[in-house]
Amino acid sequence: MKFTFQNPVQIIFGAGTLDRLGEAVRAHGTKALVVTGGGSVKRNGTFDRAVASLNAAGVSVVECSGVEPNPRLSTVVRGADLARRKACDVVVALGGGSTMDAAKVMAAVVFFEGDPWEMFPHGQANRRLPDRALPIVTVPTLAATGSEMNAGAVITNEKTTIKSFVTAGCLYPKVAVVDPELTASVPKDQTAYGVCDLITHVTESYFNGVDGTPLQDRIVEGIILTAMEWGPKAVADGNDIEARAQVQWASVVALNGWAQVGTFGPYPVHMIEHTLSAHHDIAHGAGLAIVNPAWMRVAARTRPARFAQFAQRIFGITPKHPDDAEAASEGIDRFEAFLRSIGCPTRLSEVGIGEELLDKFAEDTVLVAHDEEGRLPGRPALTPSEIVEVLRSAL
Ligand code: NZQ
Ligand code: ZN
Repeated sequence: MKFTFQNPVQIIFGAGTLDRLGEAVRAHGTKALVVTGGGSVKRNGTFDRAVASLNAAGVSVVECSGVEPNPRLSTVVRGADLARRKACDVVVALGGGSTMDAAKVMAAVVFFEGDPWEMFPHGQANRRLPDRALPIVTVPTLAATGSEMNAGAVITNEKTTIKSFVTAGCLYPKVAVVDPELTASVPKDQTAYGVCDLITHVTESYFNGVDGTPLQDRIVEGIILTAMEWGPKAVADGNDIEARAQVQWASVVALNGWAQVGTFGPYPVHMIEHTLSAHHDIAHGAGLAIVNPAWMRVAARTRPARFAQFAQRIFGITPKHPDDAEAASEGIDRFEAFLRSIGCPTRLSEVGIGEELLDKFAEDTVLVAHDEEGRLPGRPALTPSEIVEVLRSAL
């Protein structure tokens, strides 16, 4: 294994840590662009508490509200313009993954010359990554994406209906203030989607990464088992802060790089899902619950031993031999049943998607991520017609 790894994000974790936001931000600036979503942080008091903490530390606030789920490029441009106009010197994201992603890209667009869509792969000849951003402080209010402690962001270009991603060192937040109490008001469905999202972040590298990563395998299995133990408790009782904390820590660790380092795995399930949420505006985690089991059934054909290991270590199913396709298949069925048990959809029809756009989803997926032969990277690499097959099996 050869790799270089660094995650520079300082994490302040635990119930009640929102009160330390002001002190954390003050180390990086005095005028904050505070980015929020559709109003949940106003309704549950998080916004007022955050502003009080910032003001008490001598940080003034410029508000940028209204980031939508599956955030749009125009929203990012609006926020960056505001930050520039008001001379903000730090960006604070207060919300779910959508708000955090939009805020991170706003911080970079402030300095970016030309069209910000050039940062995102969408079939263009030359991609230009950002190399500079205002300091970013994240305060997640939903446990799911791990955006608070990683260098990625996912944005939809509403003009072309392409949802794409950017990963760049300057997008690492300086600090993540992770207070599980802020997630108590997340409704049951979004809580379940978050559990599915965090599990999918690690199944991607587990099934698509290189061979010979025993420690990474165990980290992934630990994250999945933790999410499967505590996720249902968080769904059953949103005020169970112990469960909220366990789920949230799992969501941070699932995509801050520790589980993936050295595995070099691509994210085929995510790439396919992003086209669904781009066209139909469904919740990302709900889309993953539909695509992941369907993708697994296709991938297990070429790599049964890996899926048999998953079945054994996650569900205690004993394979009869290392390549036991039956055990592999039973593990996938049990995984799908778990997703259903917490309230996730597992069929496209449940979220109102029919077969009309399947070819378009496949085309858009490989526009954003493809190898030299035009296939979606993964194990196995998938042609557009194989992507359609995966989606058709989930109708
Ligand atoms: O907008 P508000 O009013 O805040 O309501 C949100 C939204 O309606 C609500 N919510 C958030 N916190 C809440 C709350 N409601 C009550 N109480 C709270 N404490 O939940 C709804 C969904 O929010 P959203 O931010 O869209 O959800 P999530 O955190 O799942 O983020 C999804 C986005 O992140 C991207 C996805 O593609 C999608 O666009 N991803 C980002 C990643 C990254 N940066 O690393 C990786 C992921 O794989 C993912 O692709
Ligand atoms: Zn995800």
